[in-house]
Amino acid sequence: MKNVVVVGSQWGDEGKGKIVDWLSEQADVVIRFQGGHNAGHTLVIDKITYKLRLLPSGIVRKNKISIIGNGVVIDPWALLEEIEEIKSKGIDVNTENFIISEAANLILPFHKEMDEIREDAAGKEKIGTTRRGIGPAYEDKVGRRSIRVMDLRSEKNLDKRLESVLFHHNAIRKGLGKKFFEKEQLKINLLKIAPEILKFSKPVWLKIDEYKRQKKKILFEGAQGILLDVDHGTYPYVTSSNTVAANAATGTGCGPNSINYVLGITKAYTTRVGEGPFPTELKDNIGELLGTRGKEFGTVTNRKRRCGWFDGVLVRQTIKISGIDGIALTKLDVLDELDEIKMCIQYELDGERMDYLPAGVEDQLNIKPIYKSFPGWKTSTVGTKNFDSLPENAKNYIYAVEDFIGAKISSISTSPEREDTILIENPFAI
Ligand code: GDP
Ligand code: IMO
Ligand code: MG
Repeated sequence: MKNVVVVGSQWGDEGKGKIVDWLSEQADVVIRFQGGHNAGHTLVIDKITYKLRLLPSGIVRKNKISIIGNGVVIDPWALLEEIEEIKSKGIDVNTENFIISEAANLILPFHKEMDEIREDAAGKEKIGTTRRGIGPAYEDKVGRRSIRVMDLRSEKNLDKRLESVLFHHNAIRKGLGKKFFEKEQLKINLLKIAPEILKFSKPVWLKIDEYKRQKKKILFEGAQGILLDVDHGTYPYVTSSNTVAANAATGTGCGPNSINYVLGITKAYTTRVGEGPFPTELKDNIGELLGTRGKEFGTVTNRKRRCGWFDGVLVRQTIKISGIDGIALTKLDVLDELDEIKMCIQYELDGERMDYLPAGVEDQLNIKPIYKSFPGWKTSTVGTKNFDSLPENAKNYIYAVEDFIGAKISSISTSPEREDTILIENPFAI
């Protein structure tokens, strides 16, 4: 049996949605294991665009099972809205093809408010979050006061759980001079939508065990990227979950031995949305060109993404941290017009050379990238579907990236469209 985990190897928005959708043809089950509606995964199928936030990218294909695992934080209203939106595009979401873990934690309105209060108060020091309440919801999960999907089953239990979480939040809100958050109305609102959510809820660990025995192929869909991981990313400018592949097991309820292949999705350059260190950022016309050609605007918040050269040092590091077996290189076509293409191969810090990203944010902000330069190919690669048809200079850039980062490039994406993808090595067949 082959199960594949897809993770972003940079700061998110690498094109995970496109690759998960493309690969899901071969999978039976697609599972999200962390993050929430801070994610924005874009699929383009026959010129129709689907933007998914919480729903796994397998949802658009018929006869696939899509699952939201226990590691995901769910805003129930956002989820119901997304289900309606995708249904209006002719996609079926029903209790046969969609499951929510009963152990997943909920994002509630006071989480979103807390995210906003903190970001607004932080001024220049803000993280630049998606303001969806992700951080505060994960804090409550770890603080053991969270409301989980299963808590929607009984009013008595829900009341008790809300009492506990609001005790905590109202103390903080009082300290910050914010108004008291009322329990009763929230309880009424939650009980109103409870049946709509509960009808999808199941013990996901048990379903996975069943699928494994049925030899079904599982595709685990990561959100964000390794550099946004709460342990391994550019802390504190990170999200509040573990984005590394290992969390696919914890975030769904199966062991690490259920993961057979880790596919890292890697953009042919680098982007970041929100604040934080970005050694290869380009604040010049090349950065602008990458942003324009790459349509680098956030799927969720529509914020302009910061753009820069490919950072080989960072990707080589995230490959090791996340145990990435192979890379899907995306957005190669965005580089088509450039005369020269650069890849960061080392950093310099206080006159010393460094081969990895230092852990501290101050050092991360002070390092200078050392580049290797490559001639551009100045030819369109848009829509190319086989490796041999790529221009020689594009092939040379790909070989150089592969050699430097130390992982095989197993596929290359040349446009947003599902089928505009070059397959070199099939992760499900290794
Ligand atoms: P995700 O969060 O990793 O799923 O990525 P997003 O969907 O947020 O951002 C990736 C963007 O790039 C989307 O607009 C995709 O449609 C687009 N995209 C994906 N692959 C390619 C590619 O190979 N070429 C181009 N030009 N666009 C791509
Ligand atoms: P996908 O799955 C890019 C960033 C935010 C911010 C930081 C913390 O589409 O790749 P949060 O709201 O999670 O507390 O914000 O993380 N961020 C993302 N950046 N892609 C994402 O998801 C992201 N999800 C969160 O911009 O810097
Ligand atoms: Mg995205």
